[in-house]
Amino acid sequence: MKRKNGTIVRGAAAVGCAVLSAAPAWAQTPGSEVFADPLALLMRWLHILAAVVAIGGAFYLRFLVLPVAARQLGAEDFAKLRQALGERWRFFVHGAVALLLISGLYNYLAVTRVSHAGQPLYHMLFGIKFLLALIVFFVAEALVSSRGWSKGLRAQARLWLGLLLGVALLVILIAGVMKMMGTTAPVG
Ligand code: HEM
Repeated sequence: MKRKNGTIVRGAAAVGCAVLSAAPAWAQTPGSEVFADPLALLMRWLHILAAVVAIGGAFYLRFLVLPVAARQLGAEDFAKLRQALGERWRFFVHGAVALLLISGLYNYLAVTRVSHAGQPLYHMLFGIKFLLALIVFFVAEALVSSRGWSKGLRAQARLWLGLLLGVALLVILIAGVMKMMGTTAPVG
């Protein structure tokens, strides 16, 4: 048993060494510059993850939870469920808004503003995407707020969630166009 373990450890060490010694070779191939700025990569990951969780959650609420609950529950239980969901979903909304703003601003100001210098179309699309994202954030925060100012909006939650998803779809489509535009300066 001891001998077997020793063989496994030696095997793993050999594989580890091979990977490490191979690293410099692949690290010099075209495209590997993406790892030169780990913070930029982290921010991009956070941006995508926050968008997936927030928009996926809103979609699930709008097209599954709310319509099914409205059909299955009485008015009083439905109101209680909506209140409880709102209280829990609120933290995810706050977190996603903060992450999208921080990571999006970082990605733009530190990375893509430079790599798309001299490309007015890119910057115009960024401006439109940013304004649309602010609308999404406003509606999302209003729907999870417990304050009086957003009572009217909350009373028509399904309508506003639908609108939020429509605007978020535009944001994602614009992001796709921005991503596919060629850069004017190298990344990293
Ligand atoms: C509803 C809110 C938002 C959603 C759903 C969203 C979604 C996305 C998605 C899916 C990408 C593509 C990521 C990739 O392919 O790597 C992206 C990229 C990006 N987003 Fe957002 N985003 C939102 C808000 C924001 C905000 C508030 C900002 C700026 C403050 C921002 C700035 C950016 C930038 C600069 C990129 C990179 C575009 C490129 O690849 O050239 N986003 N966003």
